[in-house]
Amino acid sequence: MQIQTLERMESNVRTYSRSFPVVFTKAQNARLTDENGREYIDFLAGAGTLNYGHNNPHMKQAMIDYLATDGVVHGLDMWTNAKRDYLETLEQVIFKPRGLDYKVHLPGPTGTNAVEAAIRLARVAKGRHNIVTFTNGFHGVTMGALATTGNRKFREATGGIPTQGASFLPYDGYMGEHTDTLDYFEKLLGDKSGGLDVPAGVIIETVQGEGGINVAGLDWLKRLESICRAHDILLIVDDIQAGCGRTGKFFSFEHAGITPDIITNSKSLSGFGLPFAHVLMRPELDKWKPGQYNGTFRGFSLAMVTATATLKKYWSNDTFERDVQRKGRIVEERFQQLATLLTENGMPATESGRGLMRGIDVVSGDIADKITSKAFAQGLVIETSGQDGEVVKCLCPLTISDEDLLEGLDILEMCVKAVVNE
Ligand SMILES: Cc1ncc(COP(=O)(O)O)c(C=O)c1O
Repeated sequence: MQIQTLERMESNVRTYSRSFPVVFTKAQNARLTDENGREYIDFLAGAGTLNYGHNNPHMKQAMIDYLATDGVVHGLDMWTNAKRDYLETLEQVIFKPRGLDYKVHLPGPTGTNAVEAAIRLARVAKGRHNIVTFTNGFHGVTMGALATTGNRKFREATGGIPTQGASFLPYDGYMGEHTDTLDYFEKLLGDKSGGLDVPAGVIIETVQGEGGINVAGLDWLKRLESICRAHDILLIVDDIQAGCGRTGKFFSFEHAGITPDIITNSKSLSGFGLPFAHVLMRPELDKWKPGQYNGTFRGFSLAMVTATATLKKYWSNDTFERDVQRKGRIVEERFQQLATLLTENGMPATESGRGLMRGIDVVSGDIADKITSKAFAQGLVIETSGQDGEVVKCLCPLTISDEDLLEGLDILEMCVKAVVNE
C-alpha cells in the first residue's frame, strides 16, 4: 500500500490513521474496503457521523437528484429550496410529534462551531459570562468550546492562552454511585460565597462520548433541568455525538423527558457524512442581531438535502428507533459478557451505554489498545475513548445488518479472549 506521501505530508496532528494505517478506497453501510480489497467492519463510523452507514443509497440518490437539477450548492445563508425543505421536514418530522418549538441557527458545519454558537447565544441571552460544564465533557477544540472540554490533552494545546468562561462540576457518577453530584451544584448556587459565578447556561452530554461513555441517569437529568429552571439558567444539551438516534431516540434527552433551552447537533445530522450543524433554541432566546454571528459555510445545501432525506426515511415513524434499541440490547448483553470475562481474569471491566452508544471500560489504556489493535488485525475498526483511552467504544452504524453486528462482536470477543490469555 502506498502510504509514503500520506505519512510525509500530513501533519503530525493526525490521529485515526495511526490506529488504522491502511488506505481506504470504498465503503458501504458498515463495511470499509482498503486498497488491497480487504474488508473491515466499521464500529467507529466516523466517530458517530455515519449513523446511517457509509454511502446510504437513499441519501446518495437525493444528492444526485439535487445536483442533476443544478440545485444551489453554496448560497451563504441565502434562502434555497434545500433549506426550506430541511426546515419544513425538521418541523413536521421531529419537532411536531415531540411537541417541540425551536428556532434554527445554522452556524459553521462542525460540532465545535455549533457549541461556540450555543454558548455565545446563552451569554448574549442572559447577560452572564459563565457556562457550567462537566468533568470528562468534550465539546470541541475551538477556544470557546475548549473552555468547556475537560481533557488536558486538548486544553494544554493552546500555546499558553488560558481558556475562560467555564466552570467544571462533577458529572453524574463522578464521585461514586452514592453521591448525587447535583447536591454540590445546588449548594454552590445557593451560596453567595461559594465562588461560582451564576452561569448563563449549563452544557451537558447526556451520554459522554469522548469522555468514556459515561451515562447520566434519567432522574439526574430531570433534576438538572429543574435546577436550571429554578435559577434562570439555560440548559444546553450537546447532542452532537449522542443525538440523531445514537441512543435509540432522535434526541438523547428524550429518554429523560426533559426539554433543553438550546440543543446542538452535528456529526450524523446530514445523514451522509457531509459537514452540517445546527443550533436549536427556544424562540424567545433568539437574541442574535442580523449577521452578528456568521460564517461562510452556514447550512451546506447538499447536507440539507441529505438531512431531509434522512429525516423522511428514518424518522417518520418509530420503526427505526425501535430497531436501534433492539441492536443496542444485543451489544449491551455481549459487552456485559466481555466485561465479566475480563473481570474474572483479573482485569476489572465494566459495560456502559445507552442505545447503540456503548463501551467497555477496561480501566487501562494499554489493555484497550491491545484489544482494538488486535481487532483491526482481524478486520474490525473500533476505537477507544476516555481520558486514557481506557474505554473500548462501539459506535457502529445504526443501520448495520444483524450479520455484520454479530460478526463484529465475535471478532471483539476473540480479541478480548486473546488478551485475557496472553
Ligand atoms: C459531544 C461533542 N460535542 C462537540 C464535538 C466537536 O465536534 P467537531 O469535532 O465536529 O468539532 C464532539 C466531537 O466529537 C462531540 O462528541
